[in-house]
Amino acid sequence: MCGIVAYIGLKPTKELLIEGLKRLEYRGYDSAGIAIINGGIHVARTIGRVSGLEEKVANDAAFEGTVGIAHTRWATHGKPSEENAHPHSDDASAGHGIKVVHNGIIENYATLKTYLKDKGHTFKSDTDTEVLAHLIGEMYDGDLEKAVQTALKEVSGAYAIAVICEKEPDVLVVARKGSPLIVGVGSDEYVVASDSSAIVAHTTQAFHLDDETVARLTRDSFRTTTIDNVELTPEIRELEFSLEQIELGEFEHFMLKEIYEQPLTLSTCMKGRVDATSGQVILGGVAQFADQLAKGKRILLLGQGTALHAAMIGEYLMESLAGIPAEVEYASEFRYRNPIVEEGTIAVAISQSGETADTLAAVQEAKRRGALSLGAVNVVGSTIARETDAGIYLRVGPEIGVASTKAFIGQVAVLTMLAGYIGRRRHLAKEEMSNLLSHLESMPRHIETVLGESEHILNVTKGVVKHDNWLFLGRGLNYPVALEGALKLKEISYIHAEGMPAAEMKHGPIALIDEGMPVVFIATRGSQYEKVIGNIEEVNSRGGHVIAVATEGDTNITAHCKDVIYVPDVPEALQPLITVVPLQLLAYHAAVLRGKDVDKPRNLAKSVTVE
Ligand code: AGP
Ligand code: GLU
Repeated sequence: MCGIVAYIGLKPTKELLIEGLKRLEYRGYDSAGIAIINGGIHVARTIGRVSGLEEKVANDAAFEGTVGIAHTRWATHGKPSEENAHPHSDDASAGHGIKVVHNGIIENYATLKTYLKDKGHTFKSDTDTEVLAHLIGEMYDGDLEKAVQTALKEVSGAYAIAVICEKEPDVLVVARKGSPLIVGVGSDEYVVASDSSAIVAHTTQAFHLDDETVARLTRDSFRTTTIDNVELTPEIRELEFSLEQIELGEFEHFMLKEIYEQPLTLSTCMKGRVDATSGQVILGGVAQFADQLAKGKRILLLGQGTALHAAMIGEYLMESLAGIPAEVEYASEFRYRNPIVEEGTIAVAISQSGETADTLAAVQEAKRRGALSLGAVNVVGSTIARETDAGIYLRVGPEIGVASTKAFIGQVAVLTMLAGYIGRRRHLAKEEMSNLLSHLESMPRHIETVLGESEHILNVTKGVVKHDNWLFLGRGLNYPVALEGALKLKEISYIHAEGMPAAEMKHGPIALIDEGMPVVFIATRGSQYEKVIGNIEEVNSRGGHVIAVATEGDTNITAHCKDVIYVPDVPEALQPLITVVPLQLLAYHAAVLRGKDVDKPRNLAKSVTVE
């Protein structure tokens, strides 16, 4: 998803910018670059890792300055290359010395490029960003803030940008629309970044830029306006997390750290929200809409990837606990489908980052058509959090690993609480709710128990890791968990895996089963247990290698499987919160055994802010 870091202040900015880029690496990128004002503006760019950029500027005195911009690129227009890496410059002949870094897509770049070429501009890269740099240069008449405002009025698409200019060495201009940008407010300094992880080392006071907002920063002042130059007063607030939360600690990878954080983060997600004694869920973020939720006619759950899998679990729970018809939609499909949104529709956008472009657009579309829009997001102040009518933060802390783990647990927990919250205002009896919440409060301890199986799960993984095709099967609430297990394995080990309802296998996929093929079943005790055993036997009779996630104490299952991973016995409605954990660890161990980059898997970004 790329990243921006920019600085204006009194400190040497080179190390600060490089360190900031390293904190943003988890977002995914293919190249990087930096520009620092020191006399003129000095630029370095590299394809590949930030460490390569660091080597390029390490001993170069030209990069000793206190104003600069830096970027990690996730290519959309123009292949990953040094020439297409940011920063990009305005037209050399203009002589303004303008440098731009950009997250997002300038959708009308081709039209703008033609307009600028007709004015004599020549371009060096294939990117849309270079067109924006030239446009700002074209508008420049001695006032960088004004040039940026004027240029952005001509632009359609999404942008987060940082801009510097040789002619105004003590000014940094930033702006955003659709891609996040946060301004950290220090003492005689400002640190601007795509997310808080590159800011918290310097200051915990910050403000988020809203869409179509421009900020002009000098060492001791800032001014924010709309792109129409209307003055704004942003709200400076305390950033939500600390440096140690984004450090690895004793773990080898952020993903493993975040898997092991799950007992704690599930507790923090529920803290102050669950009261088993009174059978109540307290959700302050949606309280003002409690009646509207209780009268809801349909619940629409929108997300992508892991968030979509959590949404699928939410669908079961909204119907079983809240008693309201629910449906899940790929956000990317919903937004282009001309959907019917009747009176009484509640649209819930599920998103860890709160910046996924398709999920944002889908919930905005549902809201536009009259739905009450809620956000179930992790990043405080993120775009989805600000664009929806109300919401429930996951409160699982920053998730750095590209593969989402603790956020999935948080999403499922929030949807469980929301379903109970609505259910208690409809037909859900206090006793049933109290019982459910009592088990929910015990879930962190149960996850802890499953984490104790990691060594066993490593051994199970070693037995099958050489296979390049796996299946994940489950029924009921464990069907979305099977999808999630397949996604985890795919995205970090690059092993092909498919998840599906266990009953679906007979309708074609069973043809895939060959000798030793790993087939992971979620076979916990529940209403469809016997049916799952039947499916397991269908795989066994074709030579598959069955790995079962089963309920502790179930000795029957061992006769049917090559490997068994036990999880505590919990109510069916809460099983996803623990059955997913062995699958997370299977994927993690497989990726490590195959020597993959667990936290920065190829081609992936932590949040997909482009469509
Ligand atoms: C999951 O491990 C992936 N990182 C990806 O599928 C992710 O869940 C999806 O892109 C949605 O991201 P979001 O939760 O930030 O919206
Ligand atoms: N669209 C720009 C490019 O392809 C920016 C991509 C990004 O967000 O990193 O260079």
